[in-house]
This record gives sequence, structure tokens and C-alpha cells, in this order.
Amino acid sequence: MISKTTIDQVYETARLEEVIGDFVQLKKSGSNFKGLSPFTDERTPSFMVSPVKQIWKDFSSGKGGNVVAFLMEHEHFTYPEAIKYLAKKYNIEIEETEQSDEQKEQANERESMYLVSEYAQKYFTETLWESEPGKAIGLTYFKERGFTDGIIRKFGLGYGLDEWEAFTKTAIDKGYKLEFLEKTGLTIVKEQSGGETKKFDRFKGRVMFPIHSMSGRVLGFGGRILTNDKKAAKYLNSPESDIYHKSKVLYGIYYAKQSIAKEGNCYLVEGYTDVIQLHQSGVENVVSSSGTALTPEQIRLINRLTKNITVLFDGDAAGLRASLRGIDLILEQGMNVKVCTFPEGEDPDSFAKNNTYEDLVLYLEENAKDFIQFKTSLLAEEAANDPIKRADTVRDIVNSISKIPDRIKKEIYIQECAKIMHISEEVLYNTLAQIDKKGVADANKKQKQEQKAFEVVKNDQVVEKVDVQYELERKIIEMLLLYGNQKQEFEDLVLKENEEGDLVLEPEIIEAKVYEKVYLDLQEDEIELTNEQFKIIYYKLIEDLNENEEFKVNSFLANLDQAMVSEISSILMEEERYVLHDWERKDIYPKEKGQGVAQLVGETILTLRCNLIKNRIKKLQKGTEGNVGDNSEVLEEIVNYLQLNKLLNAKLNRVLS
Ligand code: CTP
Ligand code: MN
Repeated sequence: MISKTTIDQVYETARLEEVIGDFVQLKKSGSNFKGLSPFTDERTPSFMVSPVKQIWKDFSSGKGGNVVAFLMEHEHFTYPEAIKYLAKKYNIEIEETEQSDEQKEQANERESMYLVSEYAQKYFTETLWESEPGKAIGLTYFKERGFTDGIIRKFGLGYGLDEWEAFTKTAIDKGYKLEFLEKTGLTIVKEQSGGETKKFDRFKGRVMFPIHSMSGRVLGFGGRILTNDKKAAKYLNSPESDIYHKSKVLYGIYYAKQSIAKEGNCYLVEGYTDVIQLHQSGVENVVSSSGTALTPEQIRLINRLTKNITVLFDGDAAGLRASLRGIDLILEQGMNVKVCTFPEGEDPDSFAKNNTYEDLVLYLEENAKDFIQFKTSLLAEEAANDPIKRADTVRDIVNSISKIPDRIKKEIYIQECAKIMHISEEVLYNTLAQIDKKGVADANKKQKQEQKAFEVVKNDQVVEKVDVQYELERKIIEMLLLYGNQKQEFEDLVLKENEEGDLVLEPEIIEAKVYEKVYLDLQEDEIELTNEQFKIIYYKLIEDLNENEEFKVNSFLANLDQAMVSEISSILMEEERYVLHDWERKDIYPKEKGQGVAQLVGETILTLRCNLIKNRIKKLQKGTEGNVGDNSEVLEEIVNYLQLNKLLNAKLNRVLS
């Protein structure tokens, strides 16, 4: 765990505009910065950064938050990854809490392994570009494959000399420990018969493909042999280690993540070279599972970025059938799967190399087929004249369909499949019911029930009520955020006895801070905000405003979870939106910011109170409907509420006029 002190220090030091400036070109615009949204393709800027509030808002995607939220959205970091990134950028030493000695040792060990791997990557790259064999053998090979200098540099490709311990020796001379060279598998250590040990490089005479984590750290390598030696494996990979788990990484994810999120789709290919070649062609949302079937962990990695995946298959049909089964795993995770095959004898690598970007994109668009449809057509063709095979095929396909978590999608696929296979839907539903123990009948019933429940809600107009309430509660939060500590003069109407002895409403001026007024008024009616998120934010805000003379958005947000940070950023940046296009603001917001705060606060609280009372009256009235017994108590309560409502409305009218 990173200590609270470190986290606080990171928040205090990091400048949002600097951090975002590393990824987005920002231009000054009034007191803010603006730029093109990094989350969508747009031509007019709708991405806003407030250096004062240290929050950002992207009006085209609706995303927003503080500095950590930006890194989590843009770089797909986890929370600790974002904190670590910022600590590194601002040279803040990370203090860990509550780590046992054993944990510390483990963390240090992993860190050492990362460092060794990073060094190895630099070494292999340097060998490729600087050494004679590197240039003559490695670089020539990459160039022959059609890789440009730029792409070779981008992917950090390299070369390992064809010598027994060239790398190991250099690394040890540089001070890297043999222990970690061995643990990362870069060096192989062998016991000799005489008790001696002998060490040599794992990657000898191979071109090197570094494998990166989602956040860009080097985890391991794939090394390709250049000779046609039938006995040696074409690719040699780093062994499993504390930092490299083959089943949990995807080759290319670091370079693809942004594009995957932006395009809303991820292409999956088989090999290293397919990834690089597609990337070079301009299709950057592509990763590889390195020759094996996707694992659930790898799918989850993609799932963090998009729900859509397109699997690209080589031209040979034999591999295809075997691969189809692995795809059920992707369906199981609720992802939408498409597949795309290439012409006989071609793979994504060769196809991308031999075609222009436009042709490639067009080909992918036209040939990517929905997985279930694809599988059905393929198998149906094979089994056309063989009844027994046909039965197996049906079961196979329904089995795939049964993996899809979404019920509606399932049904659509059953219908599709029935059409393609010329089988009645009924038979398919029965098969599905057999496979899926819960059964479709059950699911249908539940769906009908859900539909009914929804209709009831609609008739009751609950939907509308909830919205008004939501807007009012949001406004309360906004007022506290913007004006919480401002002293204002509030006019309140209090019941007083006049000279004739009648009760009348008399205005009275009370001076108070906005948050005090809000808190006391709501408490008077025992009002709680109904939205759980707002409720939590509300109490935190009141506490913060009560404790601190000055309200600092940045430190307030530092202690909230990301969902709330995002909500608050939206509220705070809403009005900035109109600054983007000055003309828009003129008509809609003629008032100066901060003018009429007292009026706004009074009005909002009164409206909220009226709304709640209205709801209570409705509820009470409903309770008496069709009730033949004694209703007098309830009726009295209703009358009381109506009177209170009248009083509040009188106040509200006065505030509004
Ligand atoms: N692979 C591996 N070990 C092997 C063969 C393959 O790890 N002995 C993995 C590699 O990640 C490789 C992928 O499986 O990228 C696909 O294999 P293949 O199609 O044979 O390799 P390509 O990437 O197409 O390599 P090349 O075009 O250089 O032959
Ligand atoms: Mn290939």
C-alpha cells in the first residue's frame, strides 16, 4: 500500500495542466486550457482543463475528473499505477505502508527484475543499431520484412549477438546481479560436473521483441531465430517469472490501448510480426496472444478497454476449426466477437504489407463477420449432407450461444442460427434449455415480469419525480462546491403576531455562510438527500467546509473515490462549457457568476422542500384510496402538509419575485 503521506504529496505537487499536456495539446482559453478531446475524434475542442480547480472535463465523451482520473481514463492505469506514475514524474519518493519484511523483499525483487529487463531491452536495441552483426544480420532482417526505422524503434526491437555470454557479461559489468538475470531467464545458469557453474545467454543470435505490460514496463522477450534450423524453435520466449506471466499479457497492448479505446474495437492476431505490420500500416488497435488461445485474464485486459473484439485468422483452414472453440471463452465474458479470415496463403502480416491502408481497412470492414453467424455458416456447409454431423454441429453452435450472458442477444442468435441451419427455433430453444439448466422458458417468464414492473413505474410517474429530485440535489452540491464558504444575507419569512394579534409572515434578514444555511434548513425538515452518492458528498462537504476556513477543491477530491470525483468534476465544469463558445453563453447565462447567490440558495432549498412535501402528500393520499375505515389521522396529516406547502410556496414566490 502506498502511504497516505505519499498520496497527499502527489496531489499537492502534480499540476494537472502539465500532466495532461504530455498527452494533449492544450491552448490557454481565459482562465482555463482547452484542447481536442483525446477520447473521441473531433475537430473543435471540447476538452477543458481548469488549472485553478485542478479538474478536467471532456464535453464530447462526458468524462471528467482530477489528475488521477485522467491517467486512469487515458492510460488505463489502476489507481496505484497512476499515483506511481505521478510520483516518478515529480520525483516524489514512494513510501509504502504496512509491508512485512517479506513483502518488502518481494517488491524489491520484482523491481530489480523490471530494471534488469529494461536494461536488456536497451542493450538489445543498441546492439541492433550500433554493432556490426546487429546491423548486418538483425537490422537487415527487419528491413527485409518491410519494417521501417520508425516502427523498429517504436516497438523497441533488438538483436542478441550470436555469442555465448555477450549480454550476460556486459550486464554483470554494469552492476546487474546474476540472481536477477537468472530469475528473468535472460541468463541460463548451469551446474557443471565439477561443482562449477557456467552461464550463457538465453537469446543468442536472435532478433528480439520486447513484451510490455499495459503501463509500458518490459516484462519479457520473444526472440526469433534467423536460420532455417528445423531443430531449434522459431521463437524462444522468456520463461514464466514473478514479472512475466504469459497468460496475463498481450503483445502490443501498451501501444494499442489508446486506439482500442478510441475505436471501440480490438483486433486480435496470432503473432508478433502481425501486430507490428498492422501497426505500421496504420491499424493500431491490435494485440497478439502470442500463438496460444486467449486466456480469461487476457480477455479481461481487453475488456477494460472495449467490449468488441475481432479475431483475425490466417488463411489456412485447418487451424481455423481448432481456434473456434477458444472463442467461446470470449463470449462467456460478455464480449461481442467478430472474426475475419484472409485469402488462402495470406496472414495479417503479409496482407498488411501488400496492401494500402485504405484497402486494408476496407477489407477488415467488409470481411469481419459476427462470430456465431460465421461459425454457423462454416459448420453448416461442412455438414450439409451428413445428418449425424449436422446434429453435432447444431449442439456445438447452441453451446456457443449458451455462453453469451445477455439474454436478448442469445435469442437473436437462436433466430439467426435457425435461419442459416434451416431448423425450427423450437428445436434450438430445446437444445439450449438442455445445455443451460435454468432454461429459456424461465428466462422468458422473468423478462415478462420485468416488463410489467417497468410499466407500473411508468404509470406512476415515478420516473419524472426522480429526475426533479435528482436535479435539485445536484444543485445543492453545486452551491456548496462553488459558494459554500461565502457569507451571504438571507431573507427568511417567519411567522409573527401583528398588532391585531394575527399571525403574518414577516421578512427577517439573517447573515450566514451558504453551507450553514443549507445545513440548518435541511436539518429543520429532517431532509436527507435521496441519491446515495450525493448524500455521501454532501456530508463530506459540510464537514470540510465546517473545518476549513478556505475550501480547496483539489484536496477535497483527493480523499474521494473516482466515481464521486467524476460527478463533482462534471458539476464544477458545467458552466465552463459555455466559455468554449462565447456566443452560447450570452443568451443562456446573462448573470454574472456569483451574483444572486443568496437568492439561488434560498430558492433551491425551498423548491427541494416543496418537492419532498408534495411527494409525501401524494403517498398519504394513495394510502387512503379505497380505504373504508377511519382515515381521520391520515387526513389531518395531509392537511398539515398542505398548510406547510402553502407557506413554503408563499416564501418561494417572494424569493422568485
Ligand atoms: N510462437 C512461439 N513459439 C514458437 C512459434 C510461435 O511463441 N515456436 C508464437 C509467437 O508469439 C509468434 C506466434 O506464436 O509470433 C505466431 O506464430 P507464427 O505464425 O509461426 O509466427 P509469426 O509471428 O508469423 O512469425 P514469422 O512471420 O516471423 O514467421
Ligand atoms: Mn508470419
